[in-house]
Amino acid sequence: MSEIVPVISATGLYTPPDSISNEELVKSFNAYVARFNADHAVEIAAGTVSELQPSSAEFIEKASGIKARHVISKAPILDPAIMAPRWAERANEEISVLAEIGVAAARDALSRAGRDAADVDAVLCAASNMQRPYPAMAIEIQAALGIEGFAFDMNVACSSATFGIQTAADYIRAGHARSVLVVSPEICSGHLNWRDRDSHFIFGDVATAVLVEAVDIAPQPHWEILGTRLKTVFSNNIRNNFGFLNRATPETAGAADKLFVQEGRKVFKEVVPMVASLIVEEAAKLGLDGGALRRLWLHQANQGMNRLISQRVLGHEANDDESPTVLDTYGNTSSAGSIIAFHLNSEDLAAGDAGVICSFGAGYSAGTVFVRKVA
Ligand code: COA
Repeated sequence: MSEIVPVISATGLYTPPDSISNEELVKSFNAYVARFNADHAVEIAAGTVSELQPSSAEFIEKASGIKARHVISKAPILDPAIMAPRWAERANEEISVLAEIGVAAARDALSRAGRDAADVDAVLCAASNMQRPYPAMAIEIQAALGIEGFAFDMNVACSSATFGIQTAADYIRAGHARSVLVVSPEICSGHLNWRDRDSHFIFGDVATAVLVEAVDIAPQPHWEILGTRLKTVFSNNIRNNFGFLNRATPETAGAADKLFVQEGRKVFKEVVPMVASLIVEEAAKLGLDGGALRRLWLHQANQGMNRLISQRVLGHEANDDESPTVLDTYGNTSSAGSIIAFHLNSEDLAAGDAGVICSFGAGYSAGTVFVRKVA
């Protein structure tokens, strides 16, 4: 029996309407710093508390390429007394915030594919932070869309979406499903420490969806999945210790390690070679070396990392057409980043053009999805 070919039928995107510019962010951060330093003037003078340093919009743009980020809850994040997203807790009968934005992205993907939700067999909620342990966010999304079949959550941090696409593709190859939604709602503002100067500018909120289907039911145009490759290597350099075994107590409430923490320089140095060789090796295996890759839709964490990775893969510095960025307006949106880059920068490619969607992040984890446009 010949193998069923999995394809990407469509992608979907939900972008929160509110955005925070670097200037707005730095103004709020620096107000917090001034307040902290004034409140602790005596201890700072005595040398028992370290004086906080201000942030700068120029540094942020130069170090990361980020100019702004979308967020779901802007005012509390910018309030120097809060500096975290806040919204009214919802009753169990109401849809969760994470599921709500996931559903919006999923509906976008379904309508682009001309697909009725009732024809979808499975939903994977693939994201770096779930709103709760259970019931699964994916099952809530499945119910809201009226999908039969099965759904479950999976978390591979920034690589969740590419790992989700391979999982969906494998279900299709094995005949367990013919139409699978991979939904990545990323409310990164909830796990970012907005008071940490080294990382307060990194993340934004968004949701993406990828509809992976068997080729015989897919609409035209679509993207044939030529091959996928995943890799994980344990590292403590990006870590978040939040969990049910360390519930907030007066001692731990607000502890910085219960939010995102990283050794940014080590991440940069260790992840770039790992990802570049993953792409190069897999491209060669698929016969996509030697200039056959028309576009790289890379994870959106840092423009310097993307510059180096694309240089190693293409053999020259990539231009915006070869390796498009969405970092400037979205910031790092964890697993959704490479999917946003693909969603916003794939329509112009011609039939036969091939490219790679690539993610990397905590774990470490890296995933590649090689695709070719069929029209
Ligand atoms: N405003 C102004 N200056 C700042 C600053 C801020 N917000 N944050 C740090 N600085 C200063 C530091 O104090 C340091 O000053 P010094 O040289 O006088 O000591 C200097 O800028 C460099 O700091 P550093 O933290 O080493 O910055 P960097 O150039 O490594 O850039 C990252 C920081 C996070 C952007 C970078 O390491 C990176 O992108 N790493 C990749 C990892 C990543 O993005 N991970 C996300 C998850 S996948």
